[in-house]
Amino acid sequence: MIRFESVHKTYAGSQAKAVDDLNLDIASGKVFGFIGPNGAGKTTTIKLMTGILQPDAGRVILEGIDMAQRPLEAKRTFGYVPDSFEMYDRLTGMDYLRFLADVYGVSILRRNEHIEKYLKLFELESAAYQQIRSYSHVMKQKLSIIGALIHEPSISILDEPMTGLDPKSMHVLKEEMKNHCKEGRSVFFSTHVLDVAERLCDEIGIIQHGKLIAKGTLDELKGSEKDSTLEALFLELTQQEES
Ligand SMILES: Nc1ncnc2c1ncn2[C@@H]1O[C@H](COP(=O)(O)OP(=O)(O)OP(=O)(O)O)[C@@H](O)[C@H]1O
Ligand SMILES: [Mg+2]
Repeated sequence: MIRFESVHKTYAGSQAKAVDDLNLDIASGKVFGFIGPNGAGKTTTIKLMTGILQPDAGRVILEGIDMAQRPLEAKRTFGYVPDSFEMYDRLTGMDYLRFLADVYGVSILRRNEHIEKYLKLFELESAAYQQIRSYSHVMKQKLSIIGALIHEPSISILDEPMTGLDPKSMHVLKEEMKNHCKEGRSVFFSTHVLDVAERLCDEIGIIQHGKLIAKGTLDELKGSEKDSTLEALFLELTQQEES
């Protein structure tokens, strides 16, 4: 369960709210897609959710645990793929994954199973023993995705995880996201790839200027316009708010 209760955030020196009174409840077992124009507040929301940023007001609650009150416990509930990768450049990919497995207390047997499986699926095996500084941006992204899956968290939080992935990796990621939720866990991800969001998400939230302007299943968002697409809805809703 993911809950935002009246969450507000304004960056120092800024006039506008990056996140403006966000209220959101996402049940377990759901893939939730978070979409919105550039600068709408998606990454800020995700950083508030992961405890990287603190809200000015309001609460973030993950699996019943209040991030402000019990941050360590709350942070144990999720795996996180950020939108940029400042990783430990001198570690090898394998060192990085083993380090994460240690942090999250994953057994040797389980971690070896997972590391082998995901390195293969994301075609990163041949780079596993190279230093991360030799990786391309997308290789780092894939490593970060594997790192977020390795401890089987109840919540996966991914900030634009699909950007730049090749078709096979994209397919693997989508399958992993679906499987993850079949087991009663949840996925919260931001994206600009609306056709993927349309097919993958159980629920979608649209944010603009820090405000959640729509939320629901695709059918709920479509309302009476059954033949509409998420792209058409997105354009319509975000334009309505502007005018
Ligand atoms: N570190 C920061 N300091 C000041 N303002 C910031 C900072 N980070 C983001 N902002 C501002 O907060 C607002 C929301 O930005 P955010 O990065 O959350 O948007 P986003 O929806 O993730 O956009 P994108 O689709 O481009 O990734 C924007 O107006 C942005 O300029
Ligand atoms: Mg962003």
